[in-house]
Amino acid sequence: MNEDLQKRIQAALANPQNMGELADADAIGTVGNSDCGEMLRMWVKFKQQDGKRVIDRATFQSFGCETAIAVASLATELIRGKTAEEALALKPEELAGELGPLPPMKIHCSQLVEGALRSALSPQAETCAKPTESTKSAVTSTAPTLLDSFSKPKEGGVKIQFLD
Ligand code: FES
Repeated sequence: MNEDLQKRIQAALANPQNMGELADADAIGTVGNSDCGEMLRMWVKFKQQDGKRVIDRATFQSFGCETAIAVASLATELIRGKTAEEALALKPEELAGELGPLPPMKIHCSQLVEGALRSALSPQAETCAKPTESTKSAVTSTAPTLLDSFSKPKEGGVKIQFLD
């Protein structure tokens, strides 16, 4: 990786935007890369603006490399104010924004972000019920953190234990 790109990634990581889960998200997307073992989850909240349903806020959590985190940070800012269709039309290199072109070995990092976005915004995406006082714990259980996904299996589910 060239030095300029490394500097831009470090600058994005020094002040990452939109990290963490979004408790009142309208949609969630999760994606993993079996080759490198990275995972990324994205939460998206919409709002009405000028008669259109646009992205109000997007956040992410990642068990990912620095490049994936930097791209997710930039991408969650970039898609703000866009409709789901406009956000889905963005290519991985556009999501990487000011990082500029990524070397071939890092292109899949931006594709991880694109995949999480696609997963969240596709018609089959996990959607979240609006929380009420009585359903808050139920909503939380449908939108666990990435760590929860690994350590707390759903009721009746199977807990996966990784072998050494
Ligand atoms: Fe696999 Fe970056 S090295 S997501």
